[in-house]
This record gives sequence, structure tokens and C-alpha cells, in this order.
Amino acid sequence: MSYVVTEKCIQCKHTDCVEVCPVSCFHDGPNFVVIDPNECIDCNLCAQECPVSAIYSEDELPTDQRKFIEINKRLSKTWPVIKEKHQALPDSEKWALIDNKLSELIE
Ligand code: SF4
Ligand code: F3S
Repeated sequence: MSYVVTEKCIQCKHTDCVEVCPVSCFHDGPNFVVIDPNECIDCNLCAQECPVSAIYSEDELPTDQRKFIEINKRLSKTWPVIKEKHQALPDSEKWALIDNKLSELIE
């Protein structure tokens, strides 16, 4: 099993999550981050840090977010590892209120 980054992160990318991961399994894209399911040790530290509650354990994923299992797995193979917090994206407060934003994901 693994933890999974879901839709709420898109266009927000606060990155509080990446600093607490003990095994550096976050990977950084233009407007989203993903977790490498092969590295995640299910410690739950990252989920507590995300200000928009974008991270779930795979077994607690809302049904409409299950597509993010495949998205995290696939994009973590090519995006670079991120270990340090950066500034959130400029319009993160606005985007935090928007639920349906998968079409905004830049791969
Ligand atoms: Fe990293 Fe733990 Fe989060 Fe998995 S659950 S991504 S190991 S902080
Ligand atoms: Fe995204 Fe939340 Fe991390 S917005 S970058 S999952 S802290």
C-alpha cells in the first residue's frame, strides 16, 4: 500500500508534505506533486502536514480520487525528487476552493 496525492494539490502545491517524508518519496511536477508507491512506508506524516488535506492512505481514498493511484505511480517515474519546501503556487488560495481541477494538471 501507499499514500496518494489527490486532486486538491493541483495548482496549490504547498509542499509542507515533502519535508517530513523520511524516505524522500515525493516527486515534483509543474503544479502537483506525487508519491512513489514503491518507496512510501505508510508513516502518515505527510497527510497531517498538507493544509488542503490532499493526501490519503490508498485504503481511505474517496472513490472519485482512485484515479490518482495510477497518476502518482506513473508520474513518480519521471518527475524529479523534491525534499525541500518551496513557496506555494501564486493562486493557491483560490484553487484550494475548487474541487474539479484534474484538467489543470500539467504533466
Ligand atoms: Fe512519505 Fe510517510 Fe507520506 Fe509515505 S506516508 S509519502 S513515507 S511521509
Ligand atoms: Fe500538495 Fe499538500 Fe503537499 S498541497 S504539495 S500535497 S502539502
